[in-house]
Amino acid sequence: MVAEVVLGLESSVTRSESMDSVKEIRRGTLQEQTFYEQVGGEETFRRLVHRFYEGVAEDPALRAMYPEEDLGPAEERLTLFLIQYWGGPTTYSENRGHPRLRMRHAPFTVDRAAHDAWLKHMRVAVDELGLSEEHEHTLWNYLTYAAASMVNTPD
Ligand code: HEM
Repeated sequence: MVAEVVLGLESSVTRSESMDSVKEIRRGTLQEQTFYEQVGGEETFRRLVHRFYEGVAEDPALRAMYPEEDLGPAEERLTLFLIQYWGGPTTYSENRGHPRLRMRHAPFTVDRAAHDAWLKHMRVAVDELGLSEEHEHTLWNYLTYAAASMVNTPD
């Protein structure tokens, strides 16, 4: 009997407190979402990078650049990096530290041909996501900018 009264009281306090806090949240602030959330979160980035690596696997010249026989771990690293970059969980840096992407690409010959091949497979993967035009542009602009900055070997 006592327990029921206490529980009833507790739930009514909780309700009124949550109503108060809703009133205090300014209009608009509830809608703020990261790009990561806007495009569908982890699943979207997993699909993107998985499709990209299917292209890499079928491209002998690009595939030869990847040191590991199993592309799975490389797929996971790029996925976690992009998730972190776009505002999702920071698992990439928890596992790998600061990205320092140009430095991490220094052991590989990233020339114009490698750049073009990388972007070609990424283009296919981005198209298959079926994002809104605005999200697609935002993502593609970043990927092309990042790819250009990874080139470390002139023709
Ligand atoms: C321009 C053409 C590019 C080529 C040819 C290339 C090639 C490679 C290769 C061969 C690796 C090693 C695979 C591994 O063991 O993880 C690698 C790693 C990686 N790449 Fe690229 N990459 C390119 C552009 C990019 C771009 C534009 C990004 C980011 C948007 C990127 C992000 C990464 C990341 C996050 C890793 C794993 C780094 C680590 O934690 O070790 N790459 N890339």
